[in-house]
Amino acid sequence: MEINELKQIDKTVKGWLHESRDNVLRKIDTRLEVDTKTSRRDLVTNIDKQNEKFLVGKIREFDSNAKILGEEGFGDQVHSTEGRIWIVDPIDGTMNFVKQRNHFAIMIALYEDGKGLLGYVMDVIGKHLLSGGPDIGVFDNGHPLPPVKDTPLREGLIGLSGPMVLHNDYNMVDIAQQSLGMRIYGSAGIDIISVLRGELVGYISYLKPWDFGAGRILCETAGLKMTTIDGQRLDVLSSTPVLLATRNAHQDILTIVSQ
Ligand code: IPD
Ligand code: CA
Ligand code: CA
Repeated sequence: MEINELKQIDKTVKGWLHESRDNVLRKIDTRLEVDTKTSRRDLVTNIDKQNEKFLVGKIREFDSNAKILGEEGFGDQVHSTEGRIWIVDPIDGTMNFVKQRNHFAIMIALYEDGKGLLGYVMDVIGKHLLSGGPDIGVFDNGHPLPPVKDTPLREGLIGLSGPMVLHNDYNMVDIAQQSLGMRIYGSAGIDIISVLRGELVGYISYLKPWDFGAGRILCETAGLKMTTIDGQRLDVLSSTPVLLATRNAHQDILTIVSQ
């Protein structure tokens, strides 16, 4: 895709995100309708649904030939990576949204034939929009993201998934012990922003395409590594434990995982 076309899309998506943020903030103090999905900890609210409908509507109007993969099901059934695919997570960190009204994100990604073109991760309350892609670079609220330092695991904080630590999956306790400390934020988007901003050296969680699709584009553009937990290539449509880290920390973590 031509750079000018990408820049035009970028401007358009940022407009949707600002509108979407305003819509969410306008309703943030209203009584939420909360439903459970696969378990009592897997929530969806009326705001998740409204926001996905809003973003899917904007995408359909703008790019009617593309397929849309949305967490709450208002998009399409997507079984192959062929063509253009938009991926939407309307509220990432719904448990945080419900219990804290804070620490949640809105995420959008655009892929073409499996290649990431543009990614957007917005911390709604913290007011950070990480945006960009391989052809235009990564931006934090419109400013070029400073280079991310290649910090090793033992010199940084690591973002982990609560359930994976509780079950010591993949030697998660050792990973936490070898770092300077673990953090459990409860939103993939917030963790991804933290890694991009150099506040965490890495992040590990079981993720679905809408949890990592946008972050993967930004992180790879910023020189970070995002793979499966055993270091394999991450397929855009897969649901799997994901390891995101600086190059050094990625190597450190793979060594611990394979012990
Ligand atoms: C969840 C959050 C959470 C992660 C889960 C995700 P959701 O997203 O990002 O931190 O550990 O795997 O499903 O369901 O709140 O959009
Ligand atoms: Ca979600
Ligand atoms: Ca999510």
